[in-house]
Amino acid sequence: MTQRDWQIENPGGSRRVVVTKELPGKRWLQLLTGADCRVEIAQGEDILTADEIRAACGEHIDAAIGQLTEPWGAVLLEALSAAGASIYSQFAVGYDNVDVAAATRLRLPVGNTPGVLTETTAQLAVALTFAAARRIAEGDRMMRAGAYHGWLPSMLLGSLLYRGTLGIVGAGRIGAAYARMMVEGHKMDLVYYDVRPNEELEGYMADYADFLVAHGERPVTCRRAETLPDLLGACDVVSIHAALTAETHHLIGAPELAAMKEEAVLVNASRGPLVDEAALVERCRAHPRFRAGLDVYENEPAMALGLEELDNVVIVPHLGSATTFTREGMATLAAANVVAILSGWPVWPAAASLENALPFLNDGEPPRAAPSIVNASDLGLPRLAVGRSTKEDQQ
Ligand code: DGY
Repeated sequence: MTQRDWQIENPGGSRRVVVTKELPGKRWLQLLTGADCRVEIAQGEDILTADEIRAACGEHIDAAIGQLTEPWGAVLLEALSAAGASIYSQFAVGYDNVDVAAATRLRLPVGNTPGVLTETTAQLAVALTFAAARRIAEGDRMMRAGAYHGWLPSMLLGSLLYRGTLGIVGAGRIGAAYARMMVEGHKMDLVYYDVRPNEELEGYMADYADFLVAHGERPVTCRRAETLPDLLGACDVVSIHAALTAETHHLIGAPELAAMKEEAVLVNASRGPLVDEAALVERCRAHPRFRAGLDVYENEPAMALGLEELDNVVIVPHLGSATTFTREGMATLAAANVVAILSGWPVWPAAASLENALPFLNDGEPPRAAPSIVNASDLGLPRLAVGRSTKEDQQ
């Protein structure tokens, strides 16, 4: 193990917070130092191992802000808890790398950062959809290679998608935002697959259909698929927005890929292991008109063998939340979770939408609340009353 450098901020602070990667923006650090925290920030780009994190926790720690790339399983959480930490705060909305059940057993709150990623991640999924459907990366490579010798009628023909059928697997925040962007922009019919009906999304689709009719246009439709194969066979685009759990691992494998249309586009900006990547390579190799847009991979940062050779696949390095606004917002929310738990403040009613997260991001004093604690209910943590997200609550 190489010796890692740590940057220490506010060395005299009475609470010790370990941050396993440098985070964007300044506000997150101001929040922590303003709450009398000594902040120790790991330097460098390589991912900290469990041993390094355990060593960093040491004998005494008050909180850790960690990354989705780190193994926050029971062993690490136990070390954190044994060293006296009051919270593990994840710099991400997803937390499949965190053993939340173990944290709950240890009475350790787990924070995450919803709200600020929704539109940003949905936007990246839209970008991947069209990069794949309209062969943007292939065109870019052609230009750079000096292989464009003049306009041709049949060069790099892609798929229109306008008025086609869109499928989303997982109709939570990001899935629903992606669906709205695609439907409103391209007037697509929507099929969604989710364990729960999304009444808000269905209502939105119905209103949009009425709007189209009022403008003399054909309405769009929306339905919840009974089964995944029902959705897969019907859609021109299938975009995955489900959480990674034991049940959703390899949700899209060889049989599911075979059930999709010959010229469909598959998009994954969620978590890599939802898709059997080797099966996807096979599918794309055998069906050049099938396309995929991927932001995430089964064994990040590695890719399945053969993926990089396929022209019908667009691949980017887990950029879903990569805007300055979002990453700085995530850092602020992660720090606000720490400050709130260390200060004994309640949990914010719902940071799940951008509107609800904004009070933490605006200049000035953030609310005296933790923006998002995923095991708040299981731990019986007090919450601010819903709808009372005003100054009154912040006193
Ligand atoms: C998250 O927050 O879960 C995202 O994957 C980061 O982009």
